[in-house]
Amino acid sequence: MSEQCHKAYITTPIYYVNDIPHIGHAYTTIIADTLAIYSRMAGLETFFLTGTDEHGQKIEEAAKKRGKSPQEYADEISGRFKALWDEFGITYDKFIRTTDPEHKKGVQAAFLKMVEKGDIYKDVYRGHYCISCEAFFTETQLVDGEFCPECGKPTSVVEEESYFFRLSKYQEPLLQWYREHEKCILPKTRRNEVMRFVEGGLEDLSITRTSFDWGVKLPEEMNDPKHVMYVWLDALMNYLTALGYGGDEKLMDFWPARVHLIGKDILRFHAVYWPAFLMSLDLPLPHHVAAHGWWTRNGEKMSKSKGNVINPKEVADAYGLENFRYFMLREVPFGGDGDFSQKALIDRINSDLGNDLGNLLNRLIGMSGKYSAGKISSEKVEEHYTEELAEVHASMEKLEPLLFDMQLHRYLEELWKPLSIANKAIDTYQPWVMMKDGREEQALALLGLIANILAKVAVMLHPVMPRTTEKIAKALGFEIDNAAYVKLVKEGALLDPFTIEKIPPLFPRIEEVRMQEFTPGAPEAEATENKPEKKKEKASEPVEGLITIDQFFETQLKVGTIVEAEEVPKSKKLLLLQVDLGEEKPRQIIAGIKEWYGPTDLVDTQVCVVANLKPAKLMGMLSEGMILAAKDEDGLALIRPEKPKKAGTPIG
Ligand code: MSP
Repeated sequence: MSEQCHKAYITTPIYYVNDIPHIGHAYTTIIADTLAIYSRMAGLETFFLTGTDEHGQKIEEAAKKRGKSPQEYADEISGRFKALWDEFGITYDKFIRTTDPEHKKGVQAAFLKMVEKGDIYKDVYRGHYCISCEAFFTETQLVDGEFCPECGKPTSVVEEESYFFRLSKYQEPLLQWYREHEKCILPKTRRNEVMRFVEGGLEDLSITRTSFDWGVKLPEEMNDPKHVMYVWLDALMNYLTALGYGGDEKLMDFWPARVHLIGKDILRFHAVYWPAFLMSLDLPLPHHVAAHGWWTRNGEKMSKSKGNVINPKEVADAYGLENFRYFMLREVPFGGDGDFSQKALIDRINSDLGNDLGNLLNRLIGMSGKYSAGKISSEKVEEHYTEELAEVHASMEKLEPLLFDMQLHRYLEELWKPLSIANKAIDTYQPWVMMKDGREEQALALLGLIANILAKVAVMLHPVMPRTTEKIAKALGFEIDNAAYVKLVKEGALLDPFTIEKIPPLFPRIEEVRMQEFTPGAPEAEATENKPEKKKEKASEPVEGLITIDQFFETQLKVGTIVEAEEVPKSKKLLLLQVDLGEEKPRQIIAGIKEWYGPTDLVDTQVCVVANLKPAKLMGMLSEGMILAAKDEDGLALIRPEKPKKAGTPIG
């Protein structure tokens, strides 16, 4: 993405509707959203596209399994993607569905144009097809002569009449594009990978199917109704049809895309097929195809069938949406894989956000209230803090190129440098001492330096944490918009004056893990997974049945003192306990121990409690933890500390 262009067309992949949204989908969408918000703030005319990919054999089969028509099924899942993005406040300008009539019309127009160009011919396809990846493979590409090299699932042998796209014709032009545009594929290592692949030779691509129905039909002019388009031709075209290609083309001046954000799994489609299709359509090629890595769970790919999928809504609900956004972009270098860990997320929130940013703002609010009745002037900042300002500006200047090169983790790392300068300046100069020893001007100028640093950081953090930074701006008495961006970032100027408003802390410290590890069979998954394809657990088991110490400590065990116990009416098994864990009020825990313990046996005794279990309802009552017990053929025994311990003492 280059700063000189005035339009920014930013896309996510369109998501298959055979799966409900998970953390991987959220990751791509959040990166794209960040770029879109930045582009708008920087004054670029921006169009941000996302949507759903609804055709193909995979979807047809998934719908059938659930006894639904493909359209009904696609409507349901597409709706869930849209609802989640809306709930997350994703600022997309259009949500496209490949079942939209305008899209289908556009795909047919493109097909005709390719025919006209002499790039399409009819033949017979013989080979192997992976339904899961919706991709064709030659015999030699298969693993053990049968399995898909991408996903490992069995492929099926296909022999059917098909139209072909002359991909081989574009081998040289594609190589030329890669060579001449160093940043056409990001990160650059991926570009090398694609070049090696294309240098190895390109075969023509089968682009229609006759063995199933759920797809865009060929244009009537082709007079060949048994063919439907190959789902990837259909899907990739969404980037053009969303702008009106083949119909009302009034948005076509957004083309070419600034960046197609994708995962590394679909790089070949975007970096080889897509530019070749575009060349055939005589259209310019995208500025960048940017491929991020994968989020894994315990080092394994997440998938519905493994039951180890992380639900982004659960993470956002537990830890805050914007904290989650920050974490995703900061934690993993763009392009690399990342393992999702709650501990890492909590560390980022407490350390980067809480300590470095939140505390700085709190300190400023506190000091300005005390020393200058909430008014801060920037007049003397340059005079007293020249060096610090120069360092801050040096960092600010590095930011935009990092963002446009998709180095989002480095962008955030660099953005934290001014915060560290500010925090260090407070510790070094100690304004409370300066206020006492007659250096009031320097002390107040220091507040000016801090306020400006916070304002600059808030502006540049805005695309990642839009609402949080608006709160910071409100506390500092300014608004984040293009004018603020130009002044504070582009011109490197200072804001003056600031009127500080006290706000509640933005990042209260998080002490406990707030989500279960993952939730196989969680309600979200159940709704679409009436008949799970496989037993879910197996693949999500930790390597060789072992867990790491970190994983163990994600379970919080504490000593609890039972302060009240009573029977649950109408239940043979349950007791209702109030257990003191050293917190403000006792936890209500429902335990299935009535066969072995009566209420009077329990009061004032101690037990071991799983303290960070997601609350659940049992017989209509909330249970906020679990007590540990061991059961064998002789009955059940509660696990208790050997000596009395203070309520809430951690176990481990
Ligand atoms: N429908 C195609 C894309 C067509 S674009 C013209 C598709 N859809 S998908 O739903 O299977 O995946 C879309 C994207 O989700 C992947 O490219 C990737 O960006 C993201 N991810 C899915 N799982 C992921 C992880 N576990 N981690 C990170 N992102 C991954 O492919």
